[in-house]
Amino acid sequence: SRTIKLAVIPGDGIGPEVVAEAVKVLGAVTARDDVTIETSTFQLGAARFLETGDVLTDADLASIQQHDAILLGAVGGVPGDPRLKDANIERGLLLGLRFALDHYVNLRPCTIYPGVTSPLAAPGVVDFVVVREGTEGPYVGNGGAIRRGTPQEVANEVSVNTAYGVERVVRYAFEVAQGRERKRLTLVHKTNVLVFAGSLWQRIVNEVALEYPQVAVDYLHVDAATIFFVTNPGRFDVLVTDNLFGDILTDLAAAISGGIGLAASGNINPTGRFPSMFEPVHGSAPDIAGQQLADPTAAILSVALLLDHLGLTDAAARVNDAVADDLARRSTSVRRSTAEVGDAIVTLLTDKVLK
Ligand code: NAD
Ligand code: IPM
Ligand code: MN
Repeated sequence: SRTIKLAVIPGDGIGPEVVAEAVKVLGAVTARDDVTIETSTFQLGAARFLETGDVLTDADLASIQQHDAILLGAVGGVPGDPRLKDANIERGLLLGLRFALDHYVNLRPCTIYPGVTSPLAAPGVVDFVVVREGTEGPYVGNGGAIRRGTPQEVANEVSVNTAYGVERVVRYAFEVAQGRERKRLTLVHKTNVLVFAGSLWQRIVNEVALEYPQVAVDYLHVDAATIFFVTNPGRFDVLVTDNLFGDILTDLAAAISGGIGLAASGNINPTGRFPSMFEPVHGSAPDIAGQQLADPTAAILSVALLLDHLGLTDAAARVNDAVADDLARRSTSVRRSTAEVGDAIVTLLTDKVLK
């Protein structure tokens, strides 16, 4: 028998609502396996900061590190809340965890499930995965500003790109591409403007490509990539890109695949030295929080990524199938609560087991 120690960070806004459903599904899918999920909940986020002034303490981090994996809902208060100005929960907590736990791969799959309505008129078959770098780029941030408060204020934010950091995420992307049917990899960047895009990213892709002769490699500027996300998303198989471009592209990917409520992600440390963290792509959605309006599907599909990462591939597939079933049966006229969607997916999972 196997025990999995899971750190659960429900977070803010809709985070706790969608995480409750994800944990429900996790319990249901592992019930018949010889797997015990031992959860510990960490109350982190904007609400906690407002209460205690803490964002992510050393003790939090040390304790979270003792787990096999992390499930996170969403963090962040209402954008513009002046009380959170100095806290910056997103940077201090979310990036704090991604950086401290060396989550250098941010894996964001995009599939249009059968029966799901895409805002695109004729999207065709869409099934790609974005491998977003997770520990570098402009997210490292120096927040540099000089002459603040004068008309000559200068602000700059350095994009940090190391050969080590680029190579490891590019290598991971090639491995993913190699394991897929189409074996296509697209580097998305901005080589026409950003010098390091060509001198570092493209160069490293070219070098690593020599080790993967079966993978077909191409390149798109990020602006052009957004065109094809809308006009021909079926052309993509695996995309590799930097932290900021990957952030923007994956909200777009979520939108074309039927909505942000369906998009899952994994912040992965492939070495296994640190626990990986799974979370929906969306944020805390203060506009709909506390009303059971959030779609928990993204959080539930993040559980599938988590199970996959832990080697429980059969359980992962069962979660995916149950979600696909639920999506195929979804009615566009009846609106279900967050818990009703979670319950429906649990029922589909359980029915499958009995069959
Ligand atoms: P958001 O993703 O929270 O919301 C964008 C829009 O999508 C909103 O209209 C929201 O109602 C809708 N939406 C999001 N998730 C949904 C779901 N599951 N079901 C139905 N609708 C959903 O993005 P935002 O408004 O830019 O950010 C809100 C807060 O969340 C900010 O503080 C932001 O920094 C934070 N944020 C956190 C994460 C994270 O924790 N991983 C990710 C993104 C944003
Ligand atoms: C995401 C979010 C985060 C990011 C923010 C909240 C720091 O938008 O997970 O996509 O930019 O990575
Ligand atoms: Mn984002």
